[in-house]
Amino acid sequence: MSPHYLLAIESSCDDTAAAVLVGGKVRSSVVSSQLRHADFGGVLPEMASRLHLTAIGPVVRQALLQAEVSLAQLDAIAVTAGPGLLGSLHVGVAYAKGVAFALGVPLIGVDHLKGHLASAYLSEPAPSPDAPLLTLIVSGGHTQLMHQHSPLSAELLGQTRDDAAGEAFDKVAKLIGLPYPGGAALDALAETGDAHFHRFAIPRVEGLDFSFSGLKTAFLYHLRDAQAAQPDYVARHAHDLAAAIRYTLVEALVQKFERAAEHTGLRHWAVVGGVSANRLLRRRMAQLAESHQAQLYIPPLRYCTDNAAMIALAGFHLLRAGHRHGPELVPFATGA
Ligand code: KG4
Ligand code: ZN
Repeated sequence: MSPHYLLAIESSCDDTAAAVLVGGKVRSSVVSSQLRHADFGGVLPEMASRLHLTAIGPVVRQALLQAEVSLAQLDAIAVTAGPGLLGSLHVGVAYAKGVAFALGVPLIGVDHLKGHLASAYLSEPAPSPDAPLLTLIVSGGHTQLMHQHSPLSAELLGQTRDDAAGEAFDKVAKLIGLPYPGGAALDALAETGDAHFHRFAIPRVEGLDFSFSGLKTAFLYHLRDAQAAQPDYVARHAHDLAAAIRYTLVEALVQKFERAAEHTGLRHWAVVGGVSANRLLRRRMAQLAESHQAQLYIPPLRYCTDNAAMIALAGFHLLRAGHRHGPELVPFATGA
């Protein structure tokens, strides 16, 4: 079936999100972020589920209102089924099942990663990317280079062997005292810093894989040594430290991307996932695309970090391809 009025729900981590797709186009996308986790330095799973439970009703209502679509008009429901925090996923999946059952419309469970993949097709201005694409998925949970054939299908070319890039951003941000998740705050701080204040070595990894855990440790040791001699080192140089570590993290991503582009010969590129909101990464990828005469697609910021519009688009394509789930749909915590 090809759904006309589709509602999507995403609750895999600490954002409660809903979106409405009309005729395959995003009509509304609402995200409610759970800021309370910042006080605890990470996402508390139990608290995340409870907050989803209170947010999900208002978030769905808001998405329908903004889209000017009534509940009765909906002809399909999509929901993130995993990977993510099980308790959080349960809230979205149970809600989606209830709505689909009450309305008697099809339900489709979507892999969160497929949602990020599909978001390459939400880049603006709107021209639909010409597949095949060389796609970098960079989020808090994943760092993968993919050869993408369509919104849903892609094959893996390389991935991180340890931390995801977003995780590395959040960990180094925490070391300079920024609240969780610190990736975006570190990016903002770095804008006024000197990227060459200190040189951190770009991790060397074979092939098209990545590694970020060594860089995080190098950063930690650097801060520890420098602060032993100069106790206010981090406070005095926060901007420069942020700029230097951001430069290295971004170069690690960009250099591998360039290698993959040369290796595959692909000239249509996409960068998706939370870290694709990074200002330096966006600038560096734009430069690289220009020098290689490649076409670059990066979604607007609202579709980089977790959102339900990407789940809606992936769900739309899954339903069109004949997939659907029944009441047996259960969330999964780790990669399918
Ligand atoms: O895609 P996403 O919202 O959730 C996952 O699926 O993981 O990505 C979240 C990650 C977090 O690690 C967050 O710190 C990072 O994306 N992030 C950024 C920026 N904005 C979000 N990292 C670097 N620079 C940013 N501007
Ligand atoms: Zn995500």
